[in-house]
Amino acid sequence: MLSQAQIIERARDFVYQALSGEGSGHDWWHIERVARMAVTLAEKEGADVFICELAALLHDMVDDKLTDNEAEALQNVKDWMMTNGVSSSDRAHIIDIITKMSFKGGNQTDKVSTLEGYVVQDADRLDAMGAIGIARAMCYSGHTNRPIHDPSMTPRDNLTYEEYRSGKDTAIMHFYEKLLTLKNRMNTDSARALAKERHDFLLLYLEQFYAEWEGKR
Ligand code: ADP
Ligand code: NI
Repeated sequence: MLSQAQIIERARDFVYQALSGEGSGHDWWHIERVARMAVTLAEKEGADVFICELAALLHDMVDDKLTDNEAEALQNVKDWMMTNGVSSSDRAHIIDIITKMSFKGGNQTDKVSTLEGYVVQDADRLDAMGAIGIARAMCYSGHTNRPIHDPSMTPRDNLTYEEYRSGKDTAIMHFYEKLLTLKNRMNTDSARALAKERHDFLLLYLEQFYAEWEGKR
């Protein structure tokens, strides 16, 4: 039987192979950061560290942005867990987390509902905030041919999933449509504390951005 540490090690290899060449901001290092943050939060919140770390490692393997066949991607992850000694209850828990945690415009009806789900979702969301979050938004925007900023375009409210993915936005609009909303969407107290600092950094960045845009600073 594989130990939990061995399963984690194998999961790292599995995901690294799949994502190491990804260029839209969902690269391997995103996974690495989310997994690390998930462990930190799990320890603080008293969640199951193994479940959190494994779900964090696997969370983008079923992302609709990275695959054109979600059902197949999901089956792939299930098969991988089966052949690598993850128990059936742990498999079910991890599938539950990674299929429900994605932001997709913020109006998802299926929500994570376990402490481990809260932790992994918070870890993923924290990576969309702060200095790294800004880098990722700019990277994703460029990757999808979106402009940095257009003063004639204003942020939209209550986005449907189609609108969210439509491409008719700018990197700066994304701050308002997602990044600045994340602070109030954290599930755990530990993440809320970290989110505050990252949120303030987003605001500071925007202030400098507009000042430079206007030629004032
Ligand atoms: P999830 O994969 O959880 O559904 P997203 O797809 O919204 O989350 O985001 C993944 C990363 O890409 C995040 O860092 C996010 O801020 C960035 N991103 C997603 N959509 C946009 C966009 N329209 N403009 C800029 N960055 C984006
Ligand atoms: Ni992610």
